[in-house]
Amino acid sequence: MRKVDPSSGVPLPDFLSSLGVPGFAAWVGIEVLGDLKPGSNVFISAAAGAVGMYAGQLAKLKGCRVIGSTGTDEKVKLIKEEFGYDDAFNYNKETDLDAALSKYFPDGIDVYLDNVGGKMLEAVLNHVNVCARIPLCGMISQYKKIWTEREGVRNLLNIVGKEVRMEGFMVGSYLDRFGDFTKQMQSLIIEGKISSKFKIYHGIESFLESLGSLFTSSNVGKVIIEVNP
Ligand SMILES: NC(=O)c1ccc[n+]([C@@H]2O[C@H](COP(=O)([O-])OP(=O)(O)OC[C@H]3O[C@@H](n4cnc5c(N)ncnc54)[C@H](OP(=O)(O)O)[C@@H]3O)[C@@H](O)[C@H]2O)c1
Repeated sequence: MRKVDPSSGVPLPDFLSSLGVPGFAAWVGIEVLGDLKPGSNVFISAAAGAVGMYAGQLAKLKGCRVIGSTGTDEKVKLIKEEFGYDDAFNYNKETDLDAALSKYFPDGIDVYLDNVGGKMLEAVLNHVNVCARIPLCGMISQYKKIWTEREGVRNLLNIVGKEVRMEGFMVGSYLDRFGDFTKQMQSLIIEGKISSKFKIYHGIESFLESLGSLFTSSNVGKVIIEVNP
């Protein structure tokens, strides 16, 4: 728990979103582990979700070319128009992820922030450039399966030949950087350089519906439950 300053000029939901766990996860992936350079080719999955919307915006601010994948055409439109993604595709419509990545990354992928794992991670490994970085934020496509039913990633060998750095992380291990993150993110929000989308449910009885929305692609941006005492 942390006390927030309601007079800071930042809307309250942002403390759970851009200035909370999703914003911090995006920041650790992009700023700390991604080692982005201006012009890097960056790919982000679950790009219209809580982590993805901030990761894309942070990568754009670093001068990168940023492509996102997401599950509906509406979300594709949203991330290009509101979050500044250079381009995006609906993975549910792409029958061949390998072909889609060839189209969107003719010069290969330098950084992939993975939120979904599974088939998308496998396809990405066929398109990585030498010394690419893959911060593993999450693998939501695998959460509902017991481990023996989870999808294998068959081409891990590419990590060797391309000298790729693939690294899982949990935000809790980076709390010593939380102050740096807050300072940077708060300035960006106040300067209008980072925008947010929330889906706010009302009442604790909406918990199951709100949690379920993360697994059915029906959420956009950060899911929040507002509970009035
Ligand atoms: N490492 C950490 O410390 C940390 C912290 C926070 C979150 N995370 C992880 O980061 C990821 C994103 O979290 P979030 O809070 O930002 O969630 P989110 O992206 O707001 O919501 C989850 C999204 O995942 C997509 N999805 C669901 N099932 C999928 C599937 N089978 N295949 C591909 N995409 C699927 C859906 O979007 P589409 O419409 O795009 O399908 C859904 O909206 C999750 O994996 C989460 O566990 C990690």
